[in-house]
Amino acid sequence: MIEDPRTAEPPAPLPGTDKLFTLDPVAAHLNHGSYGTVPVPVQQEQERLRAEQERDPDGFFADLPRRVGAARTALAAELGTDPARLALVANVTEAVAVALDSVPLAPGDRILVTDHGYGAVTRAVHRRAEEAGAEVHTVRLPLDTPDEDAVREAVLAAVTGRTALAVLDQLSSPTARRIAGPGLLAALRARGVTTVVDGAHAPGMLPEPVEPDADFWFGNLHKWAFAPRATGVLAVRPEWAGKVRPLALSWEHHRGFPASVEWRGTYDYTPWLAAPAGFGLLRELGAGQVRRHNEALAAHGGAVLADRLGLEPLPATAGVAMRALRLPPGRGEGDEAAVAVMTELWRRHAVRTVVRPWPGGGVLRISAQVYNRPHEYGRLAAGLAELLSRRG
Ligand SMILES: Cc1ncc(COP(=O)(O)O)c(C=O)c1O
Repeated sequence: MIEDPRTAEPPAPLPGTDKLFTLDPVAAHLNHGSYGTVPVPVQQEQERLRAEQERDPDGFFADLPRRVGAARTALAAELGTDPARLALVANVTEAVAVALDSVPLAPGDRILVTDHGYGAVTRAVHRRAEEAGAEVHTVRLPLDTPDEDAVREAVLAAVTGRTALAVLDQLSSPTARRIAGPGLLAALRARGVTTVVDGAHAPGMLPEPVEPDADFWFGNLHKWAFAPRATGVLAVRPEWAGKVRPLALSWEHHRGFPASVEWRGTYDYTPWLAAPAGFGLLRELGAGQVRRHNEALAAHGGAVLADRLGLEPLPATAGVAMRALRLPPGRGEGDEAAVAVMTELWRRHAVRTVVRPWPGGGVLRISAQVYNRPHEYGRLAAGLAELLSRRG
């Protein structure tokens, strides 16, 4: 799975992508994976919806349950899933809270997570475990774990008779690799383990993002599906639909899932209504072309950093538009040191990227989106070379 730096040719830019975004042209924005950025036509669609809302708030809100339902149906079709099992939510942070609140846990139960999990999600798991008297078991996956088979074996080896729940990433945030694939999820299901899958990066990135074997799967549409923030989706297996506990009880509660989870009183629902326009744009550009472009550009960026700086590329997952590389020992190992690297890359070189702390050398993650160009990874490499040439 490790790419050869000499073969990762950059892709040609996709036509029509030059003026699609409002990013500061001075900056090299190599961090689409964290917050996404909203394309101009989708920003305009949301502005149009907001103007409509402000012309007649009463009329707009009266018709919102219907319009949210229509957006959900459209988004379910884009995601290739059944609208009856899909709810719109604000983001993954909210979706994991709903899932953890809905799964019954007893004292002594075991919850599996991995050390590649997203920090806020793992913290939510710890709080839920504390409240239930359950125990969290963290599966350590060495950074050089070669492939999905090795990940599956490591997670399954940690399952015991007390394992009630596994909370796993579909594509991990710091290391940009697949953790929970169909094989692992089917095996956990066969062992009676409830699965909660964090698919934050999957919509727009993977052609079939929803994992049908996951009891709870959720993702963000504001990362790779070009939706306005805050648009997330939560898909549950049919047997859970009647057992989902919304975070807040509101007017639509009596209608059950998904409306009970979606409705949160007076709120700005325009991101959800504009979200189908994000998928529409992806289709206009050619979703397959966008995916191939982004993956090839991420591979190129990773190769540039490996080649020029000798950074160790971490195993990559096919189809993913991000790459992770290891900083040298002593660099970015703790929280403060990792933030210092990101801050310096921004202040001195106007490059946005992510460094996550890791013992033995922090992990640098780069992203690629249609607005990125190959020279931007060269700029990151030059900035990092300068930074690393100084004593750590
Ligand atoms: C794997 C993963 N999970 C969860 C999140 C949190 O997403 P949000 O802040 O939109 O809730 C992120 C965001 O980067 C992520 O990468």
